[in-house]
Amino acid sequence: MNPDLVAKATEARDRALAPYSGFKVGAALETGGGQIYTGCNIENASYGLTVCAERVALWKALSEGATDFRRIAVVTGAPTLTPPCGACRQMLWEYCGNIVVELHSLKGLDQEHRLADLLPFPFDSRNLKA
Ligand code: THU
Repeated sequence: MNPDLVAKATEARDRALAPYSGFKVGAALETGGGQIYTGCNIENASYGLTVCAERVALWKALSEGATDFRRIAVVTGAPTLTPPCGACRQMLWEYCGNIVVELHSLKGLDQEHRLADLLPFPFDSRNLKA
């Protein structure tokens, strides 16, 4: 668990736009060079348009030209840890590979995983060969 990364994700969580679920999430994605891109969940009255904190962080990083990723921290205030949803796992796998996923709850819970363990037998570009 990296305290600086968790702190950045915690700050991002404060900016969550989650009026519908009331479930605030912050993420911080670190590059191999130590640069950090943060994200928070952004909800919409048309619920399905909601985007998770992890993907906001990833899209910010990718759109700024970052390519090489080391780890991501995900922070909530929930009584159980919040692992990335399936869509986020898929997107993270595509662009970050087997990064470290640090889960933290403000209630004092911590866990560290590898993305490959959270997304076994993934669909990716290797499966697109004709
Ligand atoms: N959410 C995230 O931002 N990341 C996760 O890993 C799980 C879920 C958000 C989406 C939605 O705004 C709220 O949490 C409830 O699902």
